[in-house]
Amino acid sequence: EKGGYDHFMLKEMDEQPQAVRDTLLGHLVDGQIVLDEQRLDQQELRDIDKVFIVACGTAYHSGLIGKQVIEHWTRVPVEVEMASEFRYRDPVLDRQTLVVPISQSGETADTLEAVRHAVEQRAKVLAICNTNGAQIPRESDAVLYTHAGPEIGVAATKTFLAQVAAVELVGLALAQARGTKYGDEVVREYDALCSMPDAIAATLQAMQPVRDLAREIAHEKAVLFLGRHMGYPVALEGALKLKELAYMHAEGFPAGELKHGPIALIEDDLPVVVVMPSPTGRPTLHQKMLSNVAEITARGARTIVIGEPDDAGARELAAHFVEVPPVPTLLSPFVQTVPLQVLAAEIAAARGYDIDKPRNLAKSVTVE
Ligand code: M6R
Repeated sequence: EKGGYDHFMLKEMDEQPQAVRDTLLGHLVDGQIVLDEQRLDQQELRDIDKVFIVACGTAYHSGLIGKQVIEHWTRVPVEVEMASEFRYRDPVLDRQTLVVPISQSGETADTLEAVRHAVEQRAKVLAICNTNGAQIPRESDAVLYTHAGPEIGVAATKTFLAQVAAVELVGLALAQARGTKYGDEVVREYDALCSMPDAIAATLQAMQPVRDLAREIAHEKAVLFLGRHMGYPVALEGALKLKELAYMHAEGFPAGELKHGPIALIEDDLPVVVVMPSPTGRPTLHQKMLSNVAEITARGARTIVIGEPDDAGARELAAHFVEVPPVPTLLSPFVQTVPLQVLAAEIAAARGYDIDKPRNLAKSVTVE
């Protein structure tokens, strides 16, 4: 039941620290990252020379985050593709390809068909799934379950952060099998991941300013979201949440693309959410993003910046500055996603919509 909350989605957002904690639990044993079901041996994992992540919607966004960490830790090239596109374009797959379907339900038809295609082509399949014994894990060679528990809200929230945790574990497992990360390094990365539940909880506790801001912009027609690197999938996820829940026109862009077109959309008072890189973790990227914020501010945008507390540069330019705790760059989506979920839920509530059951949507899409 709703446990005192007005909506399941609000409860599920608050369950995010637990969802991430439970997903990480028990996956480091004697210094080794272990999966849940592994019908692939270490040699097969070592031989992987290409990874495809296939997923839909929110799960696709967790895949974009996975690409960054897997490539960084393993130096194996990773492509992320919407399952509905992957299946029908004859992708280049062989025995040394690892296909990673990500699916909360494990029953999404597009993703399932992508898995079947990968199996036919003799690729190895390692599924990330939140539902024990669902079709996608059943047809895969290996499985890593997210332990977010049942998610009733149609909009994915806690399962998204659990997927981010899982895909980071897959990166560590591959890095360990391939020898690009060793004992202590793996333990350190795993420990850093295990500190995320507290960081998410701290973020959730500081969301009142976002709720107030949501009421202010609830009547707007459109909101843009900008990010770079780890912040780009977060921007896409923020835009998807706003479309789904508040039925508002919302788009996420890589901030560097602004000048190649989207900047033409900027006009007076247009709310633009900017997912800021860390000024200390990624100073070069931060500098570039700061220029983007200055460009859109000069053109009248109302900038809502998600940044670290010591980001004086962004704070000075922003119309609204939302603080999130400083965390390592590769883990930043765990905290930066939270204010965007709250923003979408609060705007939708202010507009009088049912955030648990958005119009036209089903929790699991079992037709292609
Ligand atoms: O069950 P799945 O993770 O395979 O579902 C994928 C998408 O349908 C799902 O993430 C959808 O985009 C949600 N409504 C997002 O909030």
